Amino acid sequence: MLELPGLIDPHVHLREPGGTHKEDFDTGTAAALAGGFTAVLAMPNTQPPLADAASLELARGTARAKARCDYGLFLGAGEHNLDVAGELAPQVCGLKVYMDQTYGPLRMGSFSALLAHFKRWPGPGPIACHAEGPSLAVVLALAQLFEQRIHICHVSLGIELELIRLAKQRGTRVTCEVAPHHLFLSREDLPAIGPGRAEVRPPLASPSDVAALWAGLEVVDCFATDHAPHTLQEKDGAEPPPGFPGLETALGLLMGGIREGRLSIEDLIQRMHVNPQKIFGLPPQPETWIEVDEDAAWEVRAAELQSRCGWSPFEGMKLIGRVRRVTLRGRLAYQDGEVLGPMGYGRDLVAAVQSVPA
Ligand code: DOR
Ligand code: ZN
Ligand code: ZN
Repeated sequence: MLELPGLIDPHVHLREPGGTHKEDFDTGTAAALAGGFTAVLAMPNTQPPLADAASLELARGTARAKARCDYGLFLGAGEHNLDVAGELAPQVCGLKVYMDQTYGPLRMGSFSALLAHFKRWPGPGPIACHAEGPSLAVVLALAQLFEQRIHICHVSLGIELELIRLAKQRGTRVTCEVAPHHLFLSREDLPAIGPGRAEVRPPLASPSDVAALWAGLEVVDCFATDHAPHTLQEKDGAEPPPGFPGLETALGLLMGGIREGRLSIEDLIQRMHVNPQKIFGLPPQPETWIEVDEDAAWEVRAAELQSRCGWSPFEGMKLIGRVRRVTLRGRLAYQDGEVLGPMGYGRDLVAAVQSVPA
């Protein structure tokens, strides 16, 4: 049995408020625990989006009542929330900027608002960017010019990773994450997954891009699932929304990578615990660890997963390495397929930092 620190996923979509038929704080954090994650950072592209005090308060209230593991919330950058963003900054793990069209209404459509956010964001969390291709060059330049710390979400292309490597060498304060689906799937898997179900942003890339991500792993600071649940009905419908669930398959996939000699267990701990904690300034979770059976072989079956979305792009895949037990702040929160951490046990890790008296 392998004992690891609680995994931290800096990129999940829990769909609450407004999309609770796909997922909510209950099922999303149950999926997190089942996947070995004791903390998740939730994205703001909800309905309404988390972009002002009222929506943030709404989400914080439901999270407080329903989350089974610890969490932080991102604030979304919009065209009209410049002042508010500065005020709310201490309560959130970062500011999320959507440079490209994806799911939800948060795409940054105004260049001047983008510049203003880069000019004014006070931190302490980074500006997390959905920035594909040329958009990546834009946010790297802005980070440099405005001396901001940025975190690039779900890098999927070799050239993107090269650009980030170069920016790091030149002193830009940039970190990045890669999602397991971009390491273990390519566009060649599209026919097997099916065209609607395989929709994801950034899209599945070429096998040579996948190889480039593996080859450039030293530039990758975090593994993040970008857990983006949509129901099967939606994925198989006329306008399939982009996104894959990923919380419950990430560790098994990456353990496979370790087995194949593509990364070490230390590489995994750095990218799934140490770096996410450091980048987002999260406090340590005392008495928190997970136990993983490195030799447990299992097959991905959506029906057995905790996520409400009811499907997985990895359906039928045989993985080796499975979470047996999760202990969160001294309490057994997951054991052998059973989620034991109750709703409301999860803490807001960012608010927790705030509540420590100066
Ligand atoms: O595939 C994606 N789905 N990419 C994103 O950036 C958003 C996400 C979602 O929220 O569904
Ligand atoms: Zn994204
Ligand atoms: Zn996302």
